[in-house]
Amino acid sequence: MYCGQFLDAALAETNSADVRYIAFQSFLTAPFLLSQISELEYSFAGKTICDAGTGLGILPCILKEKNPLKIIGLDSDAVSLKTAAALGGNASNTSYIKADVRSMPFKAEIFDAIFARYVFQHTNLSASFLSEIKRTLKYGGLLILIDIEDDMTLHYPEPTDNSKKLFSAYSRYQALNGGDRNISKKLPSFLSSGGFCDIKIKPFTQIFFKRKNDYDSTGQIKNAFLLLQNEFESIKKNLFEKDIMTPSEYHAGLNDYYKFLNSEKEDILISKTDFLITCVKK
Ligand SMILES: C[S@@+](CC[C@H](N)C(=O)[O-])C[C@H]1O[C@@H](n2cnc3c(N)ncnc32)[C@H](O)[C@@H]1O
Repeated sequence: MYCGQFLDAALAETNSADVRYIAFQSFLTAPFLLSQISELEYSFAGKTICDAGTGLGILPCILKEKNPLKIIGLDSDAVSLKTAAALGGNASNTSYIKADVRSMPFKAEIFDAIFARYVFQHTNLSASFLSEIKRTLKYGGLLILIDIEDDMTLHYPEPTDNSKKLFSAYSRYQALNGGDRNISKKLPSFLSSGGFCDIKIKPFTQIFFKRKNDYDSTGQIKNAFLLLQNEFESIKKNLFEKDIMTPSEYHAGLNDYYKFLNSEKEDILISKTDFLITCVKK
């Protein structure tokens, strides 16, 4: 369910570009997420859990089978939530709520664990998000963050300048909207100054390697391109409207990257690192 079927089901539910992008992201990162969850060595049975910024609800889908008492998926985007609820089925221990993570509609100290996966990259170091987490988490409760660090993405050989321009336009756009695509390295210190303890930091690196003329290994690379294409598709209108880049620069960057990934002349290596960061409310 978490891989191909999740993607198919999500794409069948809606045609929104934002949702398509999160569907591809969920699909490509699901194997990673499963190993990150088992890495936690945390028993979810009987626990009350919040997935803040749940998107299409991949976490509730996975966790509901681990016998928690309750999982609440919270997101500010109604279309994503509707899709999440449809994908999640009618599990009695799962519910979805539309709200902002910086003002959560819950009583104090009700959650045993709170997840926020790929959410701080959108909110940046939001003091109100952290204080809402702290307020709603029980004493001794676990906060689990998974996020990106674009500074640790490597390509060999280097993509063209057109493609690099596209990536940096995307970073600038996310920053203009209050986000940060290099958030992971800043989170541990932020959590520590927010009063959390027992902070653990673990990098997870995903490697794509395609040898020239090796057509068997192109699947993952093509999927990575589809993710990127959907990601850019959902924001390209804003890039043009805010004069961050022109349509021709956008298309040149994307076309070059497609050609780069499908090169028959060179081997291609891409390495992308996410961080799993956990801490405890004292
Ligand atoms: C990249 S998606 C990640 C979704 C999900 N956590 C996952 O791992 O698949 C980020 C999600 O955070 C949500 N989000 C961003 N800022 C938010 C806010 N201030 N309040 C609630 N949700 C927010 C977005 O709507 C989006 O669904």
